[in-house]
Amino acid sequence: MHEPEADRVALAYDRWAPVYDLVFGRVFRRGRRAAIEVAERTGGRILEVGVGTGLSLAGYDRRNLVFGLDISAPMLWKARGRVAGQGLSHVGGLAVMDAERLAFPDGCFDVVVAQYVVTAVPNPERALDEFLRVLRTGGEIVITTRVGAETGLRAVIERCLMPLTSRLGWRTEFPWRRYADWAAGAAGVRLAERRPLPPLGHFSLVRFEKTLASPARMRPAAGNGSPPGYATLFLPEKDS
Ligand SMILES: C[S@@+](CC[C@H](N)C(=O)[O-])C[C@H]1O[C@@H](n2cnc3c(N)ncnc32)[C@H](O)[C@@H]1O
Repeated sequence: MHEPEADRVALAYDRWAPVYDLVFGRVFRRGRRAAIEVAERTGGRILEVGVGTGLSLAGYDRRNLVFGLDISAPMLWKARGRVAGQGLSHVGGLAVMDAERLAFPDGCFDVVVAQYVVTAVPNPERALDEFLRVLRTGGEIVITTRVGAETGLRAVIERCLMPLTSRLGWRTEFPWRRYADWAAGAAGVRLAERRPLPPLGHFSLVRFEKTLASPARMRPAAGNGSPPGYATLFLPEKDS
């Protein structure tokens, strides 16, 4: 069961699902490539949060084991079609799951990738806490994200657009300060990189490294360190 705000976001992306690739396929292509390249420097067990229709999945080297989750089942049905159609055997599982409540034990992934997702999540800091929790020490969080302007005309426009864009499923107002404050308050995390991405440099690629195990504010460890349900696709069936 999701919180009402998460249900609203899920519904927005349920509606985007049929046309998502057409509208957002090309525009974020270079950012997705950059994120995959960086994620593969660590490689191994990769969790892709908000995997959507799975546009990035074919880009990962087959030596990795990629697990994709999303809050929208219709987006994931598209991803499942891609996995089957393109024989993406390195995709270990797809699941409907809320980024703010990951059903994985602590420290079970080498990399957590979140592409154009954090600004869509109702409580981004809670999601970032979860990314950090499920990551092993030395692992990396790789994020592509919109970064809003702090001041000036762009900041005003972004604030004005918020009622519209939140209905569409994301925030336009999202200052860098939110990431900086989160990293400053979370034990055991280090900003490793921040660089601008196209289009228009309004987006960034951000990497955080997990430097310490089990920071105090994380939930206690659950399970045996392996992602549960790995190698299965646990996805609700499409109504026919
Ligand atoms: C802009 S799309 C990005 C999709 C994909 N990563 C890409 O690069 O095209 C944002 C995705 O995040 C998902 N999402 C939003 N909130 C979420 C949450 N709380 N938990 C998991 N996924 C979420 C949406 O359903 C959607 O598929």
